[in-house]
Amino acid sequence: MALSDFFSNLNLFVRWFHVFAGIVWIGHLYFFNFVNLQLQATLDDATKKAVNPQLMPRALWWFRWGAMATFLSGIVLFTMVYMYQPGLWGPTVFFSDMTGITGRAWWILIGMLLATIMWFNVWFVIWPAQKKIFGLGIPKAAAEEIPLLRTRAARFSRANTFLSGPMLFGMLAAGHYGAINFPTFLLFTAIAVTLIWTFFRLSHRVARVS
Ligand code: HEM
Repeated sequence: MALSDFFSNLNLFVRWFHVFAGIVWIGHLYFFNFVNLQLQATLDDATKKAVNPQLMPRALWWFRWGAMATFLSGIVLFTMVYMYQPGLWGPTVFFSDMTGITGRAWWILIGMLLATIMWFNVWFVIWPAQKKIFGLGIPKAAAEEIPLLRTRAARFSRANTFLSGPMLFGMLAAGHYGAINFPTFLLFTAIAVTLIWTFFRLSHRVARVS
């Protein structure tokens, strides 16, 4: 591909930025679920009071803006691959052909559905709960409300961790697998969920064996 082919180079740059932002987002998600959750259980109240007001706003900033950058660059990428070709708007050959929606489009639609649910959870469930827990830009929640908020944030964060496995298969299969095949997707989902479940179990033992 020549450097003068502006559209292809832009496509590669947006693709790179999308994966880069995705690493920032999902990296923090895994930090929260495989490291921080287990760490918090070992800290006494005084240490938590010293550490968390410094740690959490920083980590949550990268987490939620990583999610936003991934989402927005993903929408741009979707438009560039499936809805536009230089000079022409509308579904491209990658989106549909004589037989209907292509396998590639099915894969990415599945990946995007899961990733968008995850993005929604970050911005409309996890972040609002964390804002109240730590009083970030708004008054801190009452002490009796905090356990409920913590549970809600942790549940959705855990759900996102599980969703990240099949989501990533959708993202990758679009460009690298070919025809859609739902049994394949279910098999990949089972493998990803089992792996993530194993990571959760391992995360409680890591500190002891390392
Ligand atoms: C938040 C909503 C998201 C949307 C709307 C979205 C959309 C897209 C689109 C349209 C593509 C291009 C597919 C193609 O070329 O056929 C793509 C590829 C990809 N996305 Fe996402 N994505 C999202 C989230 C994520 C997340 C969280 C990650 C995690 C790292 C991720 C990782 C990837 C990867 C690795 C590729 C494949 C790049 C390649 O093979 O060239 N995406 N995504």
